Amino acid sequence: MATALITGASMGIGAEFAKALAARKLDLILTARSQDKLEALAKELGDRHGIKTHCIPLDLSVPGAAAKLRDSIADAGLTVDWLINNAGFGDYGAFSNSDRAKSLAMVNLNITALMELTYDFLPTMVERKNGTIINLASIAGYQPLPYMALYAATKAFVLNFSEALWAENKETGVRILGLCPGPTSTEFFKAADFPAAIAPKESAAATPETVVAEALDALDAGQANCVTGGLANKALVNSGRFFPRGWLAKSIGEMFKPANAAQ
Ligand SMILES: NC(=O)c1ccc[n+]([C@@H]2O[C@H](COP(=O)([O-])OP(=O)(O)OC[C@H]3O[C@@H](n4cnc5c(N)ncnc54)[C@H](OP(=O)(O)O)[C@@H]3O)[C@@H](O)[C@H]2O)c1
Repeated sequence: MATALITGASMGIGAEFAKALAARKLDLILTARSQDKLEALAKELGDRHGIKTHCIPLDLSVPGAAAKLRDSIADAGLTVDWLINNAGFGDYGAFSNSDRAKSLAMVNLNITALMELTYDFLPTMVERKNGTIINLASIAGYQPLPYMALYAATKAFVLNFSEALWAENKETGVRILGLCPGPTSTEFFKAADFPAAIAPKESAAATPETVVAEALDALDAGQANCVTGGLANKALVNSGRFFPRGWLAKSIGEMFKPANAAQ
């Protein structure tokens, strides 16, 4: 039986990947900081689908945590066939006022841990000529996003990195997808301190279920990336082709700036 490692599996999109892959009878290695949530989900899915589950609670933003995760997986004699690099967070506000430690933790989690886990598991997937990696980028990775500047930049990294690895691995038997959800109803906006006035309306946000279903379809279709949601998201990610980048950054900045958020 194949095994999937899912980071950020305690809730939101990661928990939904766990449910979808358990339904496909994959064994699961679930990681995030919230041990209680991981264990509750692991029990529910193990009971429902008769799969094996393993929980490894970790703060992946701490330097060295990805190596600890790799070592725990090796010590348990597990092989990773699917890697879902999902854990991530954002932080709303002007970069000049942002918290340095939080920003470093964001880069460590959104970029470094994702890259390290790819180092840890991609080579053996290539050797086996079989494997799947899904990296959580975002529609935010397609253009500059003032007041979420660092977050959008981390997602631009994930998107470019994933698409390049997709091309490098086209003949290796390893499938790689850069997943770019639009606004999705999870705890993401709360965790990012996103002002309610400019947060996407619940009715305009996708569900984690539809994001994961679209991702798995895109993977089966052999796509390099997948922008989930309706036409508005697809139009948004293409706007950089039609407007000067400075104008785009300024216009998005007007929409996202704290003055508007306070109105
Ligand atoms: N929601 C959206 O609109 C949206 C859109 C585009 C892309 N995304 C991306 O989708 C991914 C999943 O986000 P989500 O929307 O599902 O948000 P979420 O509900 O806030 O879930 C985030 C997950 O990451 C885990 N996590 C956060 N910090 C961590 C840390 N330091 N170490 C280990 N795990 C950590 C959280 O678990 P613990 O708190 O238990 O650690 C949780 O399981 C993220 O990469 C996000 O950037 C989200």
